[in-house]
Amino acid sequence: METRRSNLIIIFAVIALSSAAIGEALSSDYYQKTCPDVRKIVCDAVEKKINETAVTIPATIRLFFHDAFITGADASALIALPTEDAEKDSSDNKSLAGDGFDTVIRAKKAVEEACPGVVSCADILALATSCAIELSKGPTYTVELGRYDGLVSKASLVDGNLPGPDFNLDQLLNIFAKHNFTMVDLVALSGAHTVGFCHCSRFADRLYNYNGQIGATDPSFNPAFADQLKIACPANVGPTIAVNLDPYTPVTFDNIFFSNLVQGYGLLTSDAVLYTDTRSRPIVQQFASNQTAFFEAFVTAIEKVGRLDVKTSADGEIRKDCTAFNKH
Ligand code: HEM
Ligand SMILES: *[C@@H]1O[C@H](CO)[C@@H](O)[C@H](O)[C@H]1NC(C)=O
Ligand SMILES: *[C@@H]1O[C@H](CO)[C@@H](O)[C@H](O)[C@H]1NC(C)=O
Ligand SMILES: *[C@@H]1O[C@H](CO)[C@@H](O)[C@H](O)[C@H]1NC(C)=O
Ligand SMILES: *[C@@H]1O[C@H](CO)[C@@H](O)[C@H](O)[C@H]1NC(C)=O
Repeated sequence: METRRSNLIIIFAVIALSSAAIGEALSSDYYQKTCPDVRKIVCDAVEKKINETAVTIPATIRLFFHDAFITGADASALIALPTEDAEKDSSDNKSLAGDGFDTVIRAKKAVEEACPGVVSCADILALATSCAIELSKGPTYTVELGRYDGLVSKASLVDGNLPGPDFNLDQLLNIFAKHNFTMVDLVALSGAHTVGFCHCSRFADRLYNYNGQIGATDPSFNPAFADQLKIACPANVGPTIAVNLDPYTPVTFDNIFFSNLVQGYGLLTSDAVLYTDTRSRPIVQQFASNQTAFFEAFVTAIEKVGRLDVKTSADGEIRKDCTAFNKH
C-alpha cells in the first residue's frame, strides 16, 4: 500500500514535469487570471517614454527582433553580465539604442507593482513592441503570451546570426530561412525600417566607395537623394552621426518605406535590394501601393518572430530584474 502510494506520487510528478517540458502553447489570455491589465500597463509605460523621446519606438522594435533571432524570444538580449560577454556585449550591440532596454525595465517595474512575479521580461518586450507599433500608427495586434525568460545570454552566439546591412537578397533569404521565414516575411519585417535611425557608417560605402571603387556612388540610389545624403553624411563623418531610415515619415509606422525603395530612397543595401532584385520587387510594389497588405503581412511575420524558440518553465524563469538572471 505504502509503495503504491509513492508510485502514484512519482507518476503525478512525471506528468507535471513533462507538461512543463512540452510547454504550454502561447495564448493571448495567458495572464487573464494573474495580470489581466498587463497590456494596458505596458502600453502606458511605453507611451510615457515615447512622450519623453520618440526613439523609444524604433529602439524597442529593433530590440525585440535582435533578441528573438538570437536564442529565441526570451529577453536574453537584456541580460547584463559583469564579465561583459552577454548578447548585448556583442559587436552588433553598439547600434541597439539604450532606450529599448529602458522601455522594458520601466514597463517591468510598472507590471511588478500591479502583479508581482508573474509576467516574464520576454512577454513585456513582445507587448512593448506591439504598443510601440500601435502608438506610431502601425497595425494593432493581439500579442501571444506565456514566454519564460531565457537562462543563456552569450555574445558569442550573436556573431554571424544577424543579417548585415550589406547583405544581398540571397544572403537575407538564407539567414531568415534558418528561422523558417519566407520572402514575404522578410520584406514585411524589413518594413520596420519605416521608423528609426541609421548611422552614416552603415551605408557610407554606397555613397563613396561603391563596389570598392573610390568616389563611386551606388547607381540604385536616386541621384538627388544621394546628393542630399552626401551633405548629411560627409565622407569620414564621425561614428555617432545618423539619419532617418525613412526620410519622409520617420516616426510613423506606415508603408512609405516601400515607396521609398521604389524611388531609390533606401539607405541600406539590404533594403534597396528588396526592390532591385526582381524576385522580391513585386512584394515591395504591393506593399508600397497597399498599406493594408503590408500591415497584414507584417503582423503575421512579427508574430512568428515572437514564437521563435519560446522558453517554458522547464528551461526558463520569470526574471525579477530583466537585466539579470534570478539568483538560485
Ligand atoms: C532584413 C535584415 C535587416 C538588416 C540588415 C537590418 C539592419 C539594420 C541596421 C544596419 C540598422 C541601423 C542601425 C544603426 O545604424 O544604428 C537598423 C535599424 C533598425 N532596424 Fe533593422 N535590420 C534588418 C531587419 C530588421 C527587422 C526584422 C526589424 C524589426 C522587425 C528591424 C528593426 C529596425 C529598427 C526599428 C531600426 C531603427 C533602430 C533605431 O532607430 O534605434 N530591422 N537595422
Ligand atoms: C503622452 O502625451 C499625450 C499628448 O500630450 C498625452 O495625451 C498623454 O496622456 C501622454 N501619455 C502618458 C502616458 O503620459
Ligand atoms: C557593446 O559591445 C562592446 C564590445 O563589443 C562593449 O565594449 C560595450 O560596452 C557594449 N555596449 C553596450 C551598450 O552594451
Ligand atoms: C515552417 O513553416 C511552415 C509553413 O508555415 C510550417 O508548416 C512548418 O511547421 C514550419 N517549421 C518549423 C520548424 O517551424
Ligand atoms: C489591399 O490588401 C488587402 C489585404 O491583402 C486586400 O484585402 C485588398 O483587396 C487590397 N486592396 C487593393 C486595392 O488591392
